[in-house]
This record gives sequence, C-alpha cells and structure tokens, in this order.
Amino acid sequence: MKRAILSDIHANLAAFEAVLADVEASGVEEIYCLGDVIGYGPDPRECIQKARSFKVNLLGNHEEAVLFGAIGFNPKAKIAIDWTREQLNLESRPQEENRDLWNFIGGLDKEHRDGEFLYVHGSPRDPTREYIFKQDFKDRKKMDAVFAAPIGFKWKVCFAGHTHHPGIFVEQHPHSFIDPSEVEYRFEYAASPGRFLVNVGSVGQPRDGDWRASYVIVDADTIHFRRIEYDVQRTLRRFDETPALPEYLARRLQEGK
Ligand SMILES: [Fe+2]
Repeated sequence: MKRAILSDIHANLAAFEAVLADVEASGVEEIYCLGDVIGYGPDPRECIQKARSFKVNLLGNHEEAVLFGAIGFNPKAKIAIDWTREQLNLESRPQEENRDLWNFIGGLDKEHRDGEFLYVHGSPRDPTREYIFKQDFKDRKKMDAVFAAPIGFKWKVCFAGHTHHPGIFVEQHPHSFIDPSEVEYRFEYAASPGRFLVNVGSVGQPRDGDWRASYVIVDADTIHFRRIEYDVQRTLRRFDETPALPEYLARRLQEGK
C-alpha cells in the first residue's frame, strides 16, 4: 500500500496540481492531507474542491481561523484569512457550491489514528496549533512531552506539517533531527528502532530554502520525501490578479522562505 501524505497547500493551485501529477505517476493508492489547504494563496475554492476526494483531511490552523477567527495570526496572514473567508461566500457562485466548501472545512477532524501511525497538522499534544521547529530537537522537555502525547496512544510514527519544513525528529536521549537530504530523501522507518515524528513539509509554501513543493510517500517500510518543481510564475500571476493579498506572500514562494 502506497500512501501520499500532503500538508499546507495554502491555496497554491499550480503547486497542488504538480504534486497530484507526481502522486498519480507514483502508483499511490490513497492520499491523506494534514490541513491548511487554504490561507495565504489565491485559489482557495479550487484547492478545496481537489482535496475533497482525499481519504483523510485534517483541520489546519488556517481552516480553524477561517471558521473561528484569526487569533494569534500576524497581520499579513490575517488579511489572507479575511480574504479567504470572503472567497468562500462569493455571491457570484451558486450558494450550494459555497455551502459545500464550508461543509468541507467545518467537517475536518483534528487528528487521525491508523494502526501505529498518528496524523496531525501541528503536534501530538496540540494537533492544530503547536509548532515543532527544527531546532526544538534540543529542547528535551518539549520533545519528551510531544512524544508522550496523546495520552493512551503510543504511536511509532507521527506525521505532521505546519512549520513548512520537512524532516524527521527521532526519539532519543538526546533527541535528534534528520534533514531529508542527509538520508537521500528516504527513511526506512520500519527497520529503524525507536519512534519518529515526521514533518512532510509544505506543498504550497515551502520555508526550508527550497522553493519546490514538498510531500511524502509512505510504503510498508520506507518514507520517501518528494520535492516537486512547479510553475511558480503561474502562481505569481494569480497573486497579481488578486491585489487584496499581500505581495510578500507571493515573493516568498520564489525563495522557499
Ligand atoms: Fe501552514
């Protein structure tokens, strides 16, 4: 069984379509998405419509902000949240279509459990909002708490997104972090002792200095980190057509930062 795990599409349709083409060419049987299909980018409606067919879709902090308010968001992200909410209410579109989009984001779960796997947007102890940044591997107290959550469920691998920075946190004392490039973008989790928190990176707004879309494919023993080139200029043109969105959100896509 091959499963693709995507996160943080952020309404970047060109990146999303390039990833879905790669998923299809890779013989993947099912797709899980860890949230933040929307927010920041210019094509929220189209991205939700594509994500609706996935086997699992989780709630990201941007869907939560569209639903309940952008608490704790920086001003540029908040502008994008308010604009996204307007887009889901467009009077020029059939009201039934708008209702379907709202039903999608309103029906998202905060976590998914599946055998020895846990799936969240942010972290096991705060599935929607907590960030686990690369440098946090040095914070033993934080990482001990992350690996101990949620109470009563001991996972072997937890998949998360949210930071837009792919990599593997290894439960050890001291804990460690593996950049995908250090292991040639493949990690044999089944044969490796221990437990792993795997960040799948971001499809639509990578922030690790690599502009290409990021996601993973998981099979019975290995996690494959994929980086996919896409037509960034196409997304930048969509930002040009959408002056309500801060220009900074477009500029950062070219650098992956
Ligand atoms: Fe995100």
